[in-house]
Amino acid sequence: MESSSPDLEAILLVGGQGTRLRPLTLGTPKPLLPTAGVPFLAHQLAKARAYGVRRIVFATSYRASMFEPVFGDGSDFGLELVYITEETPLGTGGAIRNAGRALTCGPDDPVLVLNGDILSGHDIGAQVRLHLDRSAAVTLHLTEVDDPSRFGCVPTDDSGRVTAFLEKTPNPVTNRINAGCYVFTRSVIDSIPAGQVVSVERETFPGLIAEDRPVLAYIDRTYWLDVGTPAAYVQGSRDLVLGRLASPAMPGSPGEYLALPGAMVSPEAKVHGGTAVGARSVVEAGAGVVGSVLLDDCVIEAGATVVDSVIGNGARVCPGAVVRDAVIGDRAVVGPGNELQAGIRIWPGVELGECAVRYSSDI
Ligand code: GTP
Repeated sequence: MESSSPDLEAILLVGGQGTRLRPLTLGTPKPLLPTAGVPFLAHQLAKARAYGVRRIVFATSYRASMFEPVFGDGSDFGLELVYITEETPLGTGGAIRNAGRALTCGPDDPVLVLNGDILSGHDIGAQVRLHLDRSAAVTLHLTEVDDPSRFGCVPTDDSGRVTAFLEKTPNPVTNRINAGCYVFTRSVIDSIPAGQVVSVERETFPGLIAEDRPVLAYIDRTYWLDVGTPAAYVQGSRDLVLGRLASPAMPGSPGEYLALPGAMVSPEAKVHGGTAVGARSVVEAGAGVVGSVLLDDCVIEAGATVVDSVIGNGARVCPGAVVRDAVIGDRAVVGPGNELQAGIRIWPGVELGECAVRYSSDI
């Protein structure tokens, strides 16, 4: 890993409501959700630092006051952190413009901008170098996906310039999509209209292309994941625990599971597939937990099965219950013998009685 440039500044977009991850995000913003044992953002901070970033402006909005108590002034991470809060959410472009007030670099300097919900193995240093070598206005990381119809796609020309931002369509012209990591020339940030809601994808980038300003693509096919849905969040944690994506912030070595301080996993339980077992959580004898996130203080009782799921803080899965592809909210109880599947979400504090097969999406 090569450092990109000395004292690079960054803006981290962390103000979204994370609606697709409810109920997990009702009390905790998505960037603070525990992921492989640490708040999600800790992975991004560690990666940014490894590429030469020294100062990061957090663009906060939803539950803004929760960030500073976790990350402080950044000195524990070898970074200087600054928090800028929008009075009302300004969208991605408006948030970048608003946070730009706190940058200290000059108008021609590069600024790294990161969505606060992306895990990526791409080389930020190479992206910054491309931006500087080609004197771009903005350089975007594009990744390639198997099913681009779920995303807006981003075509490029032979010289690597982005030609358009196309909305979601059943027949996309390319499988390349915006990966949520940009290098902006500082003056471009300052030219975004201030104090109004602006989307970078719908307004800022198409506007630059229409003015024939150089908007470049840094195309990379290494590990990339947007952790915005429950399934993706579980996958991100799992991939970090298993070591499929290396992160300097991982508390421990890769393995079948990660147990946080005070966690108790019975030797007669089967816990594997990159499961994270939260602080003081208990997995009893005969229970099976595969590829899941157990948050803090939860209990998986004897003979229960949990697969590809999130179990909230203080939640309980009773004997013989089966929980698959599910989100169990904080303090909820899944009664004995229940079988939950197909993306079901149990709201915090809900107690399910005994023995039922439940498929409906929200309880
Ligand atoms: P969903 O509601 O589930 O779509 O999630 P989200 O609110 O995070 O939206 P999305 O995934 O589109 O956001 C991409 C990135 O931009 C995330 O890191 C968000 O935190 C951030 N973001 C989105 N809208 C705003 C905003 O108005 N202000 C700020 N500061 N950040 C935002």
